[in-house]
Amino acid sequence: ANKSLLVLPGDGIGPEVIGEVRRVVDWMDKRRAVSFNVEEDLVGGAAIDKHGIPLADATMDKALNVDAVILGAVGGPKWDELPFERKPERGLLRLRKEMQLYANLRPALCFEALVEASSLKPEFVSGLDIMIIRELTGGVYFGEPRGIETLENGERRGINTQVYTTSEIRRVAAVAFELARKRRGKVTSCEKANVMESGVLWRQEVTKLHGESFSDVELEHMYADNAAMQLVRQPKQFDVIVTDNLFGDILSDEAAMLTGSLGMLPSASIGDVDDTGRRKALYEPVHGSAPDIAGEGKANPLATILSFAMALRYTFDHGEDADLIEKAVQQVLARGIRTADIMSPGATLVSTEDMGKALLEELDSL
Ligand code: NAI
Ligand code: MG
Repeated sequence: ANKSLLVLPGDGIGPEVIGEVRRVVDWMDKRRAVSFNVEEDLVGGAAIDKHGIPLADATMDKALNVDAVILGAVGGPKWDELPFERKPERGLLRLRKEMQLYANLRPALCFEALVEASSLKPEFVSGLDIMIIRELTGGVYFGEPRGIETLENGERRGINTQVYTTSEIRRVAAVAFELARKRRGKVTSCEKANVMESGVLWRQEVTKLHGESFSDVELEHMYADNAAMQLVRQPKQFDVIVTDNLFGDILSDEAAMLTGSLGMLPSASIGDVDDTGRRKALYEPVHGSAPDIAGEGKANPLATILSFAMALRYTFDHGEDADLIEKAVQQVLARGIRTADIMSPGATLVSTEDMGKALLEELDSL
């Protein structure tokens, strides 16, 4: 069957960075004979302007029926005053919810030419390649009961509940084990089993699943606070980290900064395999719509291009083409080509478009 992609540029720099992805998609078609059925549609503020809502039903339907969705970014000052239900971000939340994307994959990959941009010493990050998997649809951000209540003595109390079921734990852990098999074969599972019941269950279920189906993978358990420390102390000890929604939010942001710029960070959110054998997946850069530089041709398109590389690897099983793109990124950086966000002394400052073109030149040379 033909490979289908739904492209949702969104707002701000979204359309600019997605434009460069389209170039790479065309390149894949011409030079590698890897063809995609690409459809483009609106999300976020762009959809609000056209339809009055941040994600039209027709767009949602398309998202549910393609192999992969690639999104730029949503949001911006123009829509900041809208009530929450009508904000651009709700478009993205609806996609995540209806596609049931429960595993958020955030690689922390250090590109050699950017080693000096890290907040750690070069020897700690050179060659770094970690994959953090954050559970995305459960845990304390969604658990009931939640709310703010007033007590009899007049004090107020804010409540959130951390809840995980066995199936929620097992499905995200399975994603981690499967990924580790394609990488260096190690999973570190993080919770706080020392002080949290949900953490006890998490550890039990991950251990059980490991014994049942993944005993070829090395499994290590680590308290999440220790993991936060180990990430800056000795980050290269990790291969795949799997953790809950809250700890994953924090640990993935921490790991992101090991490698420098927001403009370089891709991500994937994936869900279950459906009746047609497809695993639902949405790929997007970690950064937002960057209204401060939107429309100026300054945005770094590499995070979004690397997100497309993740789609090639995880949805389309074209790992060798994903490798090509990552290698081309490595080389373009090594040549000293830089957008403003990753600029360094002596390097060549280029626009979004020229970064995209330089990347194609590197792809041609590989
Ligand atoms: P942001 O990620 O858009 O920008 C933070 C800073 O990083 C800005 O100075 C920006 O210029 C810079 N930056 C981000 N991406 C860049 C790139 N590719 N190249 C060069 N520089 C880049 O986060 P911020 O400013 O907090 O949010 C701006 C808007 O984006 C808000 O409306 C927010 O809600 C939305 N947002 C959307 C996300 C999404 O669509 N997934 C995620 C985060 C924020
Ligand atoms: Mg965060």
